[in-house]
Amino acid sequence: MKAVVVRTLGGPEVLEWTEWPEPVVAPGEVLIRVKATSVNFADIKARYGQYHGVGEPPFIPGLDAAGVVEAVGSGVTHVEPGTRVVAFPRGGSYAEWVVAPHDLVYPLPETLDWVTAAGIPTVGFTAYQLLAEVARLTPGESVLVHAAAGGVGTTAVQIARLLGAKTIVGTVGDDAKRAVVEDVGADAVINYRHTPFVEAIQEMTQGRGVDVILDAVGGRVSEDSLKCLAPFGRLVHFGSASGEVGQIRVSDLHASCRSVLGYSLGTARQAKPQSIRPAADQVLKWVGEGALRVIVSRRYPLSEAADAHRWMESRQSVGKIILDVSL
Ligand SMILES: NC(=O)c1ccc[n+]([C@@H]2O[C@H](COP(=O)([O-])OP(=O)(O)OC[C@H]3O[C@@H](n4cnc5c(N)ncnc54)[C@H](OP(=O)(O)O)[C@@H]3O)[C@@H](O)[C@H]2O)c1
Repeated sequence: MKAVVVRTLGGPEVLEWTEWPEPVVAPGEVLIRVKATSVNFADIKARYGQYHGVGEPPFIPGLDAAGVVEAVGSGVTHVEPGTRVVAFPRGGSYAEWVVAPHDLVYPLPETLDWVTAAGIPTVGFTAYQLLAEVARLTPGESVLVHAAAGGVGTTAVQIARLLGAKTIVGTVGDDAKRAVVEDVGADAVINYRHTPFVEAIQEMTQGRGVDVILDAVGGRVSEDSLKCLAPFGRLVHFGSASGEVGQIRVSDLHASCRSVLGYSLGTARQAKPQSIRPAADQVLKWVGEGALRVIVSRRYPLSEAADAHRWMESRQSVGKIILDVSL
């Protein structure tokens, strides 16, 4: 088969479109012919050797794929050859064929096309878990989403609304990204390059702060987020796009009844795969019904993954970038 392979860590140029052995399905696994896969920020980190979930090169990058089940190993009962699915493959997803553990394979609603489907699993399931399960968002609360124009961001804004959030604010690093964040339903968008987000949130909330903050930037952004988190608020830290580590003082937490929480879909996939299925069921249902939109801004042939990575790394991308096997 053909696949995108990282043989040495580095920039987008290390992504090599090459022949690679087809994966072999084992008991409890599902063999899938990939129709489309998506680019996630973790793929960029993995290519530089900075993602905890990937081992040493050579490896195939990519977290999620959409495709058709070709074969199932013994013990697999919930899908069969011909079932349309999304999945988190055992190896990387930037390949024509993948195998996935059966408990990380999710049948698709019939209405979904491949490009939409491929844009769902990592960002959709994560955004749901962050808001519904980790932050335990309740109707009427306010939410601040950092990097709101991105894959997780555009999904999280919508899911926050579906879960009953009253006020949703997103941050962006470029005015060109404002429109997409407004389009997915944010009440306000802050370009942090022009307006410090702490001051903007304090002004919007009369100094109270927001109830829930989603932070996958890290460093200073994590530290500043705590300055505009309301009493009883939850700051969820789930990534470090900045590569920086923020410092949190426990004395900033107890008297205000605030919490700082962490989440990693990668860890959940490894250690508690069954915990993801309720999120998957809800998110796929919402997308199937049209209640939740997958914002796909660019499609690339799988062979041009390097260009897709360059675009995400430029920080200009919005929504999801899809690698489409049919192109
Ligand atoms: N824990 C989990 O399970 C999990 C799952 C999925 C994703 N994530 C994390 O969630 C974040 C978003 O992932 P995504 O795939 O949806 O990517 P994305 O948001 O589409 O792209 C990353 C965005 O992060 C923002 N950003 C802020 N500071 C940055 C910096 N110093 N360098 C680069 N980008 C910066 C940029 O937007 P602005 O310039 O507009 O700020 C950039 O466009 C990533 O940190 C990712 O690792 C975590």
